[in-house]
Amino acid sequence: MDHAITAKPKTSLLLIFLVVLTWLLSVPVPTPALANGLAGTPPMGWNSWNQVRCHDLTEDVVRRAADALADTGLRDAGYEYVVVDDCWQAATRAADGSLQPDPKRFPHGIADLADYVHSRGLLFGIYAVPGSRTCAMANDAYPASGIGSLGHERQDAETFDRWGVDYLKYDWCYADTVDGLDRKAAFEKMRDELAALPRPIVYAISEYGVSSPWTWARPVANLWRTTDDLFATWDSVLATIDRQAAVAVHSGSPGGWNDPDMLQVGNGTLTADESRAHFSVWAVLNAPLFAGTDPAKLSGTDLATLGNAEAITVDQDFAGSQGRRLAAGPGYQVWGKPLSDGGFAVVLLNTGSTTATVSAVIPGAWNVRDLWAHRDVGTAVSASLRPHAAALLKLTPR
Ligand code: GLA
Repeated sequence: MDHAITAKPKTSLLLIFLVVLTWLLSVPVPTPALANGLAGTPPMGWNSWNQVRCHDLTEDVVRRAADALADTGLRDAGYEYVVVDDCWQAATRAADGSLQPDPKRFPHGIADLADYVHSRGLLFGIYAVPGSRTCAMANDAYPASGIGSLGHERQDAETFDRWGVDYLKYDWCYADTVDGLDRKAAFEKMRDELAALPRPIVYAISEYGVSSPWTWARPVANLWRTTDDLFATWDSVLATIDRQAAVAVHSGSPGGWNDPDMLQVGNGTLTADESRAHFSVWAVLNAPLFAGTDPAKLSGTDLATLGNAEAITVDQDFAGSQGRRLAAGPGYQVWGKPLSDGGFAVVLLNTGSTTATVSAVIPGAWNVRDLWAHRDVGTAVSASLRPHAAALLKLTPR
């Protein structure tokens, strides 16, 4: 990348960056994306994992999430996939070798649950693994055996098709160390089984960025995790943001997306400012947006964060490059990306522990809109920010 950036701090609280956008000319030509015609924009929805993790997952949790997405307006804001993560499975496969749900926590079965989700105007997703063990079997002492898809790929794909699954999260877990599998080959195997089905199924793969999937996964999957699990703490959010900087140049394009992991807005120790900062960066990254908290119990502030239509528009707008980190130093980061209407989206992020003004000079003459305040704020790309707060700005040519 040919970033030319000069930083001229006037005081410790005022940082000015000059960003020359020659990097826009350095977008690599991407290999063709997976030709399944899905995930034209970064997929959005809700996933059970960050809300209930493993043992508390039930069909009622999923039904309530679907209801709340519809009732809160989040569905209409774009959150369309309701994804059941790990721990939906019974302890063993059925006699015919097919996967089956835990009968106590999913007494009505998965097809019934998918029907319900569909009846609420939403789409349905599920979790599986290419090896023999799911992650929760290793990490959460989930008492099961043989529920991985290894050796059952076609059967599982057909089961998902029959159940009405619209989205598959296929998670590596320990398939190299436990089963001796190769990542690319194993993910391609399920890709091919899904491609043979009548039903269109978004294919989300997850191997935590270990084998740099951004370099090989575009023809394989619709989205690929770039990093390890995101936790609901500011340290985890910031560490994850830092790790996106190196992969952003390999950004996907319609049909193939870098995935920095599901949202933790509303969870753990994240403050409202930290949640907005997290969401702001995910938006300029064109990240898949999966809420991971109980949508029925969101505070008004967190609902406004997840439901911010102007921020979601930035996330869903891919104009040739996902957001890149334009500048970073002690206490600040600046991220930005072009928008398809000729504008530019900028995140000014205060990573320090005191209130600070973070400013950027982006070549060109711009009108600036603050997408959290929902108002036009003049022509300066600048904001006074509390610790761990971010401004998400839309720049429109003057
Ligand atoms: C891994 C994934 C998580 C979740 C769990 C389930 O840790 O990265 O997102 O799916 O497995 O066990």
